[in-house]
Amino acid sequence: MSHAPPSPLPLAREVQALLRTRRFGQALRGYQTVDSTNTRALRWADDGAPEGSVVIAEYQTAGRGRHGRSWHADIGQNLMFSVVLRPSLPPPRLNLITLAASIAIAEAVEACVAPLTASIKWPNDVLLEGYKCCGMLLESTLTRPAQATVILGIGLNVNQSGFPAALENRATSLLLQTGRRIPRAPLLADLLGRLERYYEKLGTDEEAAIRRAYETRLHGLGHPTALRLAGQEHPITGLLLGIADTGALRLHTDDGPRTFHAGEIREANTF
Ligand code: BTN
Repeated sequence: MSHAPPSPLPLAREVQALLRTRRFGQALRGYQTVDSTNTRALRWADDGAPEGSVVIAEYQTAGRGRHGRSWHADIGQNLMFSVVLRPSLPPPRLNLITLAASIAIAEAVEACVAPLTASIKWPNDVLLEGYKCCGMLLESTLTRPAQATVILGIGLNVNQSGFPAALENRATSLLLQTGRRIPRAPLLADLLGRLERYYEKLGTDEEAAIRRAYETRLHGLGHPTALRLAGQEHPITGLLLGIADTGALRLHTDDGPRTFHAGEIREANTF
C-alpha cells in the first residue's frame, strides 16, 4: 500500500521498498536538505498528511532538540526523520508516545549492534554503553478539540564517525560502538515497523507491557539520580524508582516518593 509517488531521495526509495507496515512510512517525503524535518512534517500535517506519514532528510540546517537546543548531524550518515501522528490520547498521556518510541528504537538499534544492548535515559534518549545515540522531540498542535496532531522527530546517529569536543563524552553512533557501518534503510524500515506496533498498543490493555518494557531498559533504575527542572539551579536528588502510568519520572527523595513530568536527569552529583 503506498499513498505517495516514489521519493527522489535514494534512502527514501530504499526504505519504501523494505517497509512491512500498514501505515507508518507508507506516505514518505524524502529531502536532501531541509530546515527541520519536524517543521516540514508539521506543515504537511496541516495540509492533511495521513497518520504515519514520514519526512526524512539527509541534512538539516535548523534541526531542533529538546530544551531549546539544536540538533546537528553530518550529512548523509544518520537517520533524521519525523512521523505525523494523530493520537486519540488525552493531552496528559501524550508522553506515552515517547515511551513506545523509545522501546521501538532501542530494539531496532539492538538488532544492529548485538551483543551490545541499548538502554533508555528518561524520558527518551537511547543509549549505548551509557552514551547517547538517539534523541527524540515530540511537538504537538491542537487542531480540533481533543484531537492533537503530534510530530515525533527522531535523530539517530548511525554512521557518524566523530562528534564535536563539547559532545564527545556524551554522544555516540552505531558505527563508533561497533566499528561497522550500518545500512540505514533496513534499520529505518525495521524501526518504523516496531514503532507502528508499539504505538498501536497505546490506549489498549497492552499499554502496561510498554511501561514494563521501558522500565526494564531504564538507565539508572534504583540508583541515586539528580533531576534538573527548567529554570532551577539546584537539582533534586533521589533514588530512581521507575515511571508512573503517564510516563512521568518517580524519584524517592528526602521528602518521600515524588513524581516529575519534565526535567533532565543525570547520575547524582554530576550536574
Ligand atoms: C534531543 O535529544 O534533544 C532531541 C533531538 C531530536 C532531533 C530530531 S532530528 C529529526 C527531527 N527534526 C528536528 O528538527 N528534530 C528532530
